Amino acid sequence: MQNPYTWLDDSLATIRRANWYRAVKTVDGLPGATICLDGREMVNFASNDYLGLAGDERLIAAAVEAIQTLGAGSTGSRLLSGHRKLHRDLENAIAYLKGTDDAVVFSSGYLANLGTITAVVGKRDLVLSDAYNHSSLKNGAILSGAQVREYPHVDMDGLRGLLQEHRNHYRRCLIITDSVFSMDGDLCPLPEILDLADEFGCMVLVDEAHGTGVFGENGAGCVEYFGCRGRELIQMGTLSKAIASSGGYVAGSSALIDFLRNRAPSWIYTTALSPADTAAALAAIQIIQSEPHRRQKLWQNIDYCQELLQKNLLNHQECGEWQYGNVTQTGISNPKSIDARSGSSRRAIPNPELYRLSVLPSSSPIICIQLPYPQAALEMSQYLADSGFFAPAIRPPTVPTSRIRISLMATHTRDQIKGFVECLGN
Ligand SMILES: Cc1ncc(COP(=O)(O)O)c(C=O)c1O
Repeated sequence: MQNPYTWLDDSLATIRRANWYRAVKTVDGLPGATICLDGREMVNFASNDYLGLAGDERLIAAAVEAIQTLGAGSTGSRLLSGHRKLHRDLENAIAYLKGTDDAVVFSSGYLANLGTITAVVGKRDLVLSDAYNHSSLKNGAILSGAQVREYPHVDMDGLRGLLQEHRNHYRRCLIITDSVFSMDGDLCPLPEILDLADEFGCMVLVDEAHGTGVFGENGAGCVEYFGCRGRELIQMGTLSKAIASSGGYVAGSSALIDFLRNRAPSWIYTTALSPADTAAALAAIQIIQSEPHRRQKLWQNIDYCQELLQKNLLNHQECGEWQYGNVTQTGISNPKSIDARSGSSRRAIPNPELYRLSVLPSSSPIICIQLPYPQAALEMSQYLADSGFFAPAIRPPTVPTSRIRISLMATHTRDQIKGFVECLGN
C-alpha cells in the first residue's frame, strides 16, 4: 500500500516551486514600531497595532490584574462556566463606541464572521460577497450553506446586477464586505451598499477589522466615517488590531445580538475570551476614546508616507493611480476602485508592466507596493529587511498579485517612514 500521506511532500514541493512557500518569523520582546525580529532590531511595517497600544503599559497592567483576580483561562463557554462581568463590561463598551444597542464578544474575529454568517443565513438564502473580502467572510459564507455569489471588487453596478438577477429567488439576502480591504487598503462604498440593501431588502454585514480605532471622529470605524451610524446593519470587528488585544465582536440591534447568543455556533461552543484579553481590550477602547491624538498622529503618518511615495517613486510616475485587477496573472477584471476621501473612481494606466514599482490606491494605513511576480516581492522584502525594515511580501493565493504590504502605526517616527520610502526608491 502506498503511504497515504506522501502527497503532502509533493504538495509542499509545488508550493515552493511557485515561490508561495510561507514560514514564520520570530519576534522577541514588546511589540512596537521597532521590534526584534529573528534576533535583529528592525523598523516594523508589518503590524496591525495601528495606534501602538499592544505594548502600552496600561493594557499590560489591566491584563495582569485580570489574571491575578480571575485566573489565566475562562474555563468554559460563555453559556456554561465561562461568563464574567468583565465580558459584559467589554460588550457594553463596544456597543457604546459603535452607537449600537448591544454587542457580543467572540474568541477571535475569524470566529465572529463564521458564527454570524452561519447564524443569519442558510440553504434558502443568498450571500453577495465582494471578490476581495477577507478569508473569514468567504469561509463563513461557504459554511452557511447559502448560495454565494461574488461581485467584482467595490463594483456597485456588478452588485446591482446580481441583486436584480437573483434576489427574488431567495428568502433572505446578506451582503458581506470588508470596510477597509485588508490586503489592499482601499475602502468599500458603504453608503451605496446600504442604499442597495434597502432597495432590495437585504441585510449587510460590514467587517470593521481594519476600520475600528482608525476611522471616524470617535474611532468607531468606517460606519462612523461614512455617516452611516444609526442605519440598521451588522457591524463585525476584531479586538486584535487597533484594539491591540485578541478576540472579535459583533455590534448591532438587541434582537441581532440576542439571536447570535442563541444561534452562533462559534460563540456557543467555544471557550470564552480569556480574562487577560478581555481586560486589555476594554482598556484599549477607553484609551481610543480618551486619546484621539493617537488617531490624529496615525493619519499624519499616513499622509506623510503617501506624500513621500508620490515624490520618491516619481520615476514610476503612476504611483497611486494604478490598480491591479486589470493586469493580474489571474486575469481578474477590476473596473473601479474608490478613493474614499475624494469619492472618485480611478482608471488603470494602459501598460503597468513598464513600471517596476507601483503603489495601489489606498485610503488607510495599509499601503501596498505592487510587484510583477512572487519572486520579485520576496527579493524586495529581503532587500528591505537587509536595510532594517520589516515589510512582508504578500503573494498568491492570499492576493491575486504579489506586493509588499506595509501598515503604518501612530508610533512610527517621520524618520522611520522617510528611511523606508528612500530605501524603496533606491
Ligand atoms: C478583514 C479581517 N477580518 C477578520 C479578521 C480576523 O480577525 P482575527 O485576527 O481577530 O481572527 C482579520 C484579521 O486577520 C481581517 O483582516
